[in-house]
Amino acid sequence: MKTVGLFYGSETGNTKSAAFMIAAELGENNVEVHDIADTNPESLLSYDNIILGAPTWGFGELQNDWENFLPGFDELDLSGKTIAFFGLGDQVNYEDVFLDAMGTIHEKVRERGGAIVGSWPTDGYDFTGSTAVENGSFVGLALDVDNQDDLTPDRISQWVSKVRDQFQ
Ligand SMILES: Cc1cc2nc3c(=O)[nH]c(=O)nc-3n(C[C@H](O)[C@H](O)[C@H](O)COP(=O)(O)O)c2cc1C
Repeated sequence: MKTVGLFYGSETGNTKSAAFMIAAELGENNVEVHDIADTNPESLLSYDNIILGAPTWGFGELQNDWENFLPGFDELDLSGKTIAFFGLGDQVNYEDVFLDAMGTIHEKVRERGGAIVGSWPTDGYDFTGSTAVENGSFVGLALDVDNQDDLTPDRISQWVSKVRDQFQ
């Protein structure tokens, strides 16, 4: 597997923690982790395998760093890149807009030509609406550390073992 570029934004540290758990699962030598607050969208182009991680804030909105980072994707050609997502949200307090930021980012990546991998079943979650669901599955790994933190390690390990087979 070629080196994975993992890019995350995080307001209160939950997505950052998940990013480093995913990196540990992939193996530290296989991945380079970037906080999007300290890098620019062009740095995605250094990798053929990319993971994008985002929490949802506001009411179904992007986290602040993602607000600044995502518009730069309009200048990127992501064809030839294999891209997976993970999102953090709260299915109890934001059941109608659970993980919507992951849906927003997924939509943009598709528009820019990325090959998307790493969908995840909706079984085991209880919510009413999410733009991160397509054809009955989440478009990436769904994490809810506010309500189901005990499930996070297993979800990460299962998801990583699946996406690593789909990376280049
Ligand atoms: C003010 C506020 C707004 C939030 N809005 C949403 C939301 O619209 N949808 C959702 O799924 N989660 C929402 N969440 C939950 C966060 O996404 C969740 O706590 C996440 O783990 C935060 O990740 P971070 O620490 O990396 O920023 C919200 C949380 C807060 C405190």
